[in-house]
Amino acid sequence: MDLGLSGRTVLVTGATGDLGTVVARAFAAVGARVVTGYNTNREAAERLAEELGNGSFAIRYSLDDPDSVAAAVTEIERSHGGLDVLVPLAARLSGRRPDADSFATAPPEEWVPFVEDNLLRTLRTVQLVLPAMRERGWGRIVLVSSHLARNGRAGMEFYGAAKAALHGFTRSLMWDAGASGVLVNVVCPGVTLTERVRARMPEQAREAERAATPSRTLTRPEDVANLIVFLASAANGNITGESVTVAGGR
Ligand SMILES: NC(=O)c1ccc[n+]([C@@H]2O[C@H](COP(=O)([O-])OP(=O)(O)OC[C@H]3O[C@@H](n4cnc5c(N)ncnc54)[C@H](OP(=O)(O)O)[C@@H]3O)[C@@H](O)[C@H]2O)c1
Repeated sequence: MDLGLSGRTVLVTGATGDLGTVVARAFAAVGARVVTGYNTNREAAERLAEELGNGSFAIRYSLDDPDSVAAAVTEIERSHGGLDVLVPLAARLSGRRPDADSFATAPPEEWVPFVEDNLLRTLRTVQLVLPAMRERGWGRIVLVSSHLARNGRAGMEFYGAAKAALHGFTRSLMWDAGASGVLVNVVCPGVTLTERVRARMPEQAREAERAATPSRTLTRPEDVANLIVFLASAANGNITGESVTVAGGR
């Protein structure tokens, strides 16, 4: 299968994160030039870009600095003639509100950032990259939600609300984008065995997750990355507006 990603330019924001790094490597493995977005970890982003080759390079993309987002998009347009694929993975974690607080009393300063990062700033980034994709008549946008947007979990109201909104956004955006060859989809990972999850989730809790999963297997970062790469590729000829879950049946 020809993924048609060789020579394409892909922006992975949050590329220094657990999922972002694996996603960036998966794109590079099929010949794409990867722009590795970082917030604080410039050195790691530059090291990763060097490892990936194919003309990959690092760029600052901070959710706290809207100008950096616009500057990143402009720089990619200027230096490489445009962006073909956007995968926004920059995120402030974790999404769970502190157990001590109830939903009703959680103060805005605690939960508004989840909505801003996962929803508002993602929408803004899509707004910034879409015109050039439209102009060139080709583009792929893959947003990352979570199986929690569908299944829910105690304590994840705000995170779940922000992630679920991406699904509604995509169902409408597909009309505007699709008319010019831009396909937009959402990937919903289950509990994914990233370094952070391995460090924070005791083996007993992982076992309980496995038992509650039809495939009895937790998702690997590579499972998420493979799905993202496919949806972002030319091999995806006509899938748009979909939310695809990679969570072993959860
Ligand atoms: N891991 C899972 O099990 C799982 C499951 C479902 C969905 N997801 C989703 O996948 C995405 C990535 O998760 P992850 O586990 O890879 O996260 P992670 O390892 O914590 O990485 C977070 C990334 O976001 C960047 N970042 C943090 N604050 C930022 C800010 N203010 N502005 C810009 N970038 C910022 C970090 O950049 P620096 O290192 O440069 O500071 C880092 O690259 C999130 O949307 C998450 O909701 C994860």
